[in-house]
Amino acid sequence: MRKILFASSEVHPLVKTGGLADVSGSLPIALREQGEDVRIIMPAYRQCLSALKDLKTIATFKFDGYYMPIDILQTTLPGTDVILWLVHSPHHFDRDGGPYGKPTGGDWEDNAARFSLFSRAIAALAMDEANQGWKPDLLHCNDWQTGLAPALLSDQEDRPATIFTIHNLAYQGLYPREVFDALDLPVSLWHPEGIEFYDLMSFMKGGLIYADHITTVSPTYAEEICTYEFGYGLEGLLTKRAKETRLTGILNGIDNDEWDPSHDPHLAKSFSVKTIRNKLANKTALQQQFGLPDKEDVLLMGLVSRLVSQKGIDLTLTAVTNLLQEGANVQLVCLGSGEPSYEQDLRVLRARFPDKVALHIGYSEAIAHQIEAGSDVFLMPSRFEPCGLNQLYSLRYGTLPIVRNTGGLADSIVDASDENRQQGTATGFKFELSTALALQQTIQDAIDLFERPRIWRKLVVTAMESDFSWQKSAEKYIELYEQL
Ligand code: ADP
Ligand code: GLC
Repeated sequence: MRKILFASSEVHPLVKTGGLADVSGSLPIALREQGEDVRIIMPAYRQCLSALKDLKTIATFKFDGYYMPIDILQTTLPGTDVILWLVHSPHHFDRDGGPYGKPTGGDWEDNAARFSLFSRAIAALAMDEANQGWKPDLLHCNDWQTGLAPALLSDQEDRPATIFTIHNLAYQGLYPREVFDALDLPVSLWHPEGIEFYDLMSFMKGGLIYADHITTVSPTYAEEICTYEFGYGLEGLLTKRAKETRLTGILNGIDNDEWDPSHDPHLAKSFSVKTIRNKLANKTALQQQFGLPDKEDVLLMGLVSRLVSQKGIDLTLTAVTNLLQEGANVQLVCLGSGEPSYEQDLRVLRARFPDKVALHIGYSEAIAHQIEAGSDVFLMPSRFEPCGLNQLYSLRYGTLPIVRNTGGLADSIVDASDENRQQGTATGFKFELSTALALQQTIQDAIDLFERPRIWRKLVVTAMESDFSWQKSAEKYIELYEQL
C-alpha cells in the first residue's frame, strides 16, 4: 500500500468553483478503492469549518514570512473514511466569499500569501514534520495553488516523489518580484529555470519545473499545451518535459454515484437506458420550472458553465441568436456565473426571446443536475478544454454533447458522422473551428437528426452506455505512482 498525499485548493462537496473540486472529491476515493492509502490536504475555508465536525488539531507550525502560527486540523472527507487535513489560518482562509475571490467579485489581494502558506503546509506534512508517523511516498499536487510545494521540497533529502497535475494552464498564479520577496521564499528559486517567468513569480512553474512528473487531464490537452496556441509561453518547457517522458495526459473520470440518472434526488423522474422514455418527464419539468413552453418536439439545449472566454460563451450567444432569428425550433436553458459582460449578454438574449431562452445566473448543484437530465443536447463550444466534466455527465444522462474538437472534449466525444453512426459509436456532435458559424451549423445538424427519433434514440443509448467511471483513469495514475 502506497501512501499518497493529495493536495488541492478545492474539494467537492466542501468547496467548489469548477471541475478541480469534482476531481479532488472523487479521484482520491477511487485510488483508495484500489488499495492506496490516500490523505487529502486543503485550506480550512470558512465553508469547511462550518460543514465539518470533530476537527482535531494535530500540529501547529510557524512558517518563515508569516507572523502568526497556523494549525493543521484533521477530520475525514464527508461520507468517506479518507483522512482530510485542513490548513487552518483564520486570517487567510476563514472569511466570506470564494476560495480565490471576494463575495463582490475580483480576486483576493493576498492570494499569493494564502497559497504560498498552503504550499508551505503541504511541504511540511509531506515531510511528516507534524510527526504523525505517516510520511507519504508520493505527493500529488493540483494546479498553481499547490505549485510551490514541489519547489520547496526539491532540495530536501528523503522527500516523497512529486506529481503535479495541470487542470488548467490558463491560471498560473503570476505575481511581481516584490511579492516573492515579501513571502520570504528561498532566493535560490528565483531564476529562469526556477519559478521566475519573465520577471514575474510563477506558482505554476514551481510545479512544472520541480515536480518529478507532470500530468494533465486529457491526452489531447497534453499535446496542445506544447504548442504556441495553448502554451502561454510555457510550451518550450512543457515540450522539453514531454521529451523526457515526464508529461502524461490522463483523462478524468466521473463519480458515477453522484451523477446517476437512475438515483438522482434532484430529478423529476429517474431514468436509465431501460427507461429512457422517463427522460422526457425531466424535459417537461425543466421547461415548466423555467417558464418555457413545454413542447416535446423542440430541441432543448442545456448550458452549465463558468461564464468565461475559455467556454466560448460568445460563440453560443451569436449562434443561438442567429438560429432563433431564423425561427429554429430550439430552446436554451442556461445556468452559470462569471464575467459580468457575459451575464448581461445572456440577460439581453433572454429578453429578446423570452419563450425560447431561460437563464439562471448563479450557482446551483440541483439545477445543474436538472439541466443535464432535461436537455436534449448540451453546449460546450470551448476554445480550449483541459478535460471538461459536463460533457461526461451529459453522456450519462443521455444528453448529447455539442463540443468543439479540443482537449478532453476531443478525447471523450465521438461525432455523429455517417460513418460513426453506422458503426454505432457516435455519442455527440463535434466541430473544429472556434467560430459562431461552425457552432451554428453543428446545432443545425443536431436539429436535423433530432427530427429522426430512431437515429436519435440510438445516439442516446450509445452515449448512456459509454463508461467514464474513475476506475480506468485511477489505474493509470497508479501505474504512474508505481514508476515514480
Ligand atoms: P471547469 O472546471 O473548467 O469549470 P468542468 O466541466 O471540468 O469545467 O467542470 C465544471 C463543474 O462545475 C461541473 O461539475 C459543473 O456542473 C459545475 N458548474 C459550473 N458552473 C456551475 C453553476 N453555475 N452551477 C452549478 N454547477 C456548476
Ligand atoms: C479545469 C478545466 C476543466 C477540467 C477541470 C478538472 O477546471 O478547465 O477542463 O475538467 O479542471 O480537471
